[in-house]
Amino acid sequence: MMDRFVVEGGIPLTGRVTANGSKNATLPLMAAALLAEGTTIIEGVPDLQDVRTMAMVLRMLGADIKLADGVLTIDSTQAKSWEAPYELVRKMRASIYVLGPLVARRGRAKVSLPGGCALGPRPIDLHIKALEKLGCRITLDAGYVIAECERLKGARIAFDVGSVGATGNTLMAAVAAHGKTVIENAACEPEIVDLADMLNAMGAKISGQGTPVIEIEGPTELSPVRYRVIPDRVEAGTFLIGGAATNGDVTVDNCRPDHLAIVLDKLHDAGATIETGKNWARVAAPKRLKAVDVKTAVYPGFPTDLQAPWTTLMAVADGSSSITETIYPERFNHVPELARLGADLKMDLNTVRVKGVERLKGAAVMCSDIRAGAGMVIGTLTAQGRSDLLRIYHLDRGYEKLEQKMAGLGGRIERVSE
Ligand code: UD1
Repeated sequence: MMDRFVVEGGIPLTGRVTANGSKNATLPLMAAALLAEGTTIIEGVPDLQDVRTMAMVLRMLGADIKLADGVLTIDSTQAKSWEAPYELVRKMRASIYVLGPLVARRGRAKVSLPGGCALGPRPIDLHIKALEKLGCRITLDAGYVIAECERLKGARIAFDVGSVGATGNTLMAAVAAHGKTVIENAACEPEIVDLADMLNAMGAKISGQGTPVIEIEGPTELSPVRYRVIPDRVEAGTFLIGGAATNGDVTVDNCRPDHLAIVLDKLHDAGATIETGKNWARVAAPKRLKAVDVKTAVYPGFPTDLQAPWTTLMAVADGSSSITETIYPERFNHVPELARLGADLKMDLNTVRVKGVERLKGAAVMCSDIRAGAGMVIGTLTAQGRSDLLRIYHLDRGYEKLEQKMAGLGGRIERVSE
């Protein structure tokens, strides 16, 4: 059964909405639970398909998992296996996060290579190189990466590309390595800081998280903890940009404005009024916004996961702008769909050149990945008249009850099951 959204657009989004815990932080925290024997509890967890997929991966490894009311209970006592099969990993690349913990705890891991995805090629060479540096023997066989080691030893690891996943996997392996590990050009994303903070709460000795140089002293004996995941900056950003695109006034609670600094700056540059508190942010855009260029970059740069929503906002802004994607040069699946709504967009390598139009018009369109889908939700809510948004299963991977939350802000959006 394929659900779709039916949207009657053109109504300003107004009011308050609460963001969930971060999906991209939750997934590595779940994998980190494998590092401590016993029961780890993670609070504030969103109920999402990706979280369920990671739960399935951990179950295959022998862990016992429950999710109820945003509280995830992971008992890793019986997690004795070390193999993550293709059937699960192909559904979600982030399954690769079990590689580091398995090597640390079991001394071996066999994890399917995730393969490409709708964003283009997404290699895991950096994950592999880092584990080799820590003393793993790695072989690739029949679509699987097999890692083995007798004893991990600390090393200096310099990434030539900033990678969230490779930094996370290296952290989770290095806690078991003898001696000091230094990660250079480490990812500074808040999700990595959250992972390091949870590992430290478990007993790890990690410092420098949030900066490009992270140091890990090992090995440490880790014990299970109770930990609350950080708010989802991408979900919050989606509501804020949605509020701006519909000329609305949206306040997001459970939001860390410091994690969205550049997005709030860009909204301000475009002419929106921004207000923030410790745990909330508000954007008001009573008038049509101005065109503002954006270039995606590693944190604290503009997040690639908000590139599609931003492109949608620029499609109705006053003037011309360019949006350049430097993290995933092929991440433009939303562009032809936005054109179906009447947006004036031209691709030029990894840049989309946007000429803002006065208004978009409803049409039948589809989601092609999670974040492109978020851009299309904003697009259909902005467009005059009725839209049908297909393939919303992509959205269900990353946004809990998105249509209900948008409806709570006054959006006319409904899920229809065929
Ligand atoms: C994470 C996020 C994703 C976000 C991305 C970039 C999760 C679950 N997903 O993905 O939503 O869009 O960060 O912020 O947290 N690369 C290599 N070799 C590697 C690994 C990565 O070349 O071994 C490249 C990638 O192709 C990409 C860049 O590095 O061009 C960044 O990717 P990375 O930060 O690793 O993304 P993920 O952790 O997969």
